[in-house]
Amino acid sequence: MADLVQQWKTLSDGVSAGDLAYLRAANEAFARENGRARRAYSHSFGCAQNVSDGEKLNALLRRMGYECAETPETADLVLFNTCAVRESAEDRVFGHIGALKPIKAANPQLLIVVCGCMAQRPEVAEKLKKSYPYVDIVFGTGAVHRLPTLIAERLRHRRRVFWDEPAGTIVEGIGQERTDPVRASIAIMQGCNNYCTYCIVPYVRGREISRRPQDVVREAKELIGQGYRELLLLGQNVNSYGKGLEEPVNFTSLLREIDAIEGEYRIRFMTSHPKDCTHELIDAIAVGRHICRHIHLPVQSGSDGILRRMNRHYTIEQYLELIDYARSVMPDVTFSSDIIVGFPGETRADFEQTLELVKRVRYNALFTFIYSKRSGTPAAVMEDPVSDREKSAWFRELLAVQTEICTELNREFVGKTVRVLFDSTGKAPGMIAGRTAGNIIVEVPAGTGRIGTFADVRITKAMNWAMAGELA
Ligand code: 5AD
Ligand code: SF4
Repeated sequence: MADLVQQWKTLSDGVSAGDLAYLRAANEAFARENGRARRAYSHSFGCAQNVSDGEKLNALLRRMGYECAETPETADLVLFNTCAVRESAEDRVFGHIGALKPIKAANPQLLIVVCGCMAQRPEVAEKLKKSYPYVDIVFGTGAVHRLPTLIAERLRHRRRVFWDEPAGTIVEGIGQERTDPVRASIAIMQGCNNYCTYCIVPYVRGREISRRPQDVVREAKELIGQGYRELLLLGQNVNSYGKGLEEPVNFTSLLREIDAIEGEYRIRFMTSHPKDCTHELIDAIAVGRHICRHIHLPVQSGSDGILRRMNRHYTIEQYLELIDYARSVMPDVTFSSDIIVGFPGETRADFEQTLELVKRVRYNALFTFIYSKRSGTPAAVMEDPVSDREKSAWFRELLAVQTEICTELNREFVGKTVRVLFDSTGKAPGMIAGRTAGNIIVEVPAGTGRIGTFADVRITKAMNWAMAGELA
C-alpha cells in the first residue's frame, strides 16, 4: 500500500538509461577524437537545498562522462543552477549568464544550461528564450533527473530546449557528488506548503513532498559508513516531514532512527518552522547521542502584526515559549534565525520589536535580509511606503546589535573547553577551522591532517564571528 501511494511521485528509474548511454557514447567518441574528455563547469547559487540539487546534477554530469572544468572558458558545457529567493540573487545570475556571451562566441560548441529555482519561473524562462539566445537548455527544480535527456535532446535535434515540468516528484538513485569530505547533506523532502507571503519558494519548488524514511535512513547509514562526520538533513520545513507518507513517521521519529545508527558523527538539520516545532522534537534533541544542540528557527520578524501579514502562523509569545522550553531542557542549546527587515508596511515600532526579540533570544548567528519584492507573491502587491534608505539604516542597526550579542556570547566561552569537529582550513595560515555542536566557528593552530576529526579545544579568544583556541 505504501508503495502504491508513493508510486505516482517516486520514480526510482527517473533517470533515462538510454539518454545516459547515448551521452556517454558521444562523450567517449569526443575524447577519442580530441585526446581529452569533455569538461563541464557547474555552479550552484543559493541555499543548501540548491547546493544539494547541484551535487545531484554534478553526479549526472560525471555519469555522462563529463570531467570537471575549473572555469567557463575551459568548459564544453556550463551549468548554472540558479536561486530566485531575492531579486539580487536573480540579478547576479543574469550577470553571470551575460558574461557567457563572448565565451560562447569564441566557442560555438559550448552548451549552456540554466536550471534551478529561477528557471522554474515562467517569466524568467521567457526572458532567457528572448534575450539570451546563446542559452541552450532551460529547466526548473522539478527536472533535475532529466538532465541527460535534455542534453541528448539538444544534441540530437540541434534546437534549444525549454523544459517546463512542475516540481513535485521525488526521484531516488540519481547519485550525489559530494565535495565536502566532512559534511554530507541529505535532502529529506522537497517543496514547501507554507506560502509565507513574501516567499517565492513554494512557487518554484512546488508542494511539500517527503522521501520515504527507509530511503533516508539507508542513505544516512551509507554516508556514515563512508566516513562522513556530519549529516545535514535538509528541507524547507523539516518539522512537517512525513506528512502524506503512508508510513507513520514524523521528523522526530526520523531523527531518532538516524540517531540510533552507531558511529562517530553529528546530525544537523534545517530549516525548522516555529509553527511546527514541537516539544517532542526538542526532547529528542536533548536525549540524542549525535544530534547537535543547535536549532535554526527563523523568526522573520519580532512583531505579531507583521508575522500575521507574513502568514507565519505563530506569535512572538509562542515563539519565545519554544526557545524557553528548549533552554530549560538543554541549557547549552544555541539558536540561529532568519530575519527580514522592511517587509511591506513595517513601521519603526514593528522594527523595534524585532530588535527587542533579538536582544531577548540572543542568537548565536543571524541571517538578515532586506525585503525583496517577488512578483507573484501576495506581499508584492502590499503597500510598501518605507524608503530603501530607511530600510538599509534599520538593517545596519540590527546588524550592529547582533554583532555585539555574538561577541558577548563568544566571550563567555573563553577559558572553557568545547568539542569541535574540524572541517576546513582556517582564515590565517597554519590554522584549521571547525564548529562546536552549537554551530560556533572555532579556529586552532593545527595541521590539516586533523580535518574530519573531533577534538576538545580550550577557547582562548573571542572574535565577533568566531572563537580561537588550542587543542586541549
Ligand atoms: N525578501 C527577503 N528575504 C526573503 N527570504 C525569503 N524570501 C524573501 C524575500 N522576498 C528570506 C527569509 C527566509 C530566507 C531563506 O530568505 O528570511 O527564511
Ligand atoms: Fe518560504 Fe515560508 Fe516555505 Fe520557508 S516556510 S520556504 S520562508 S514559504
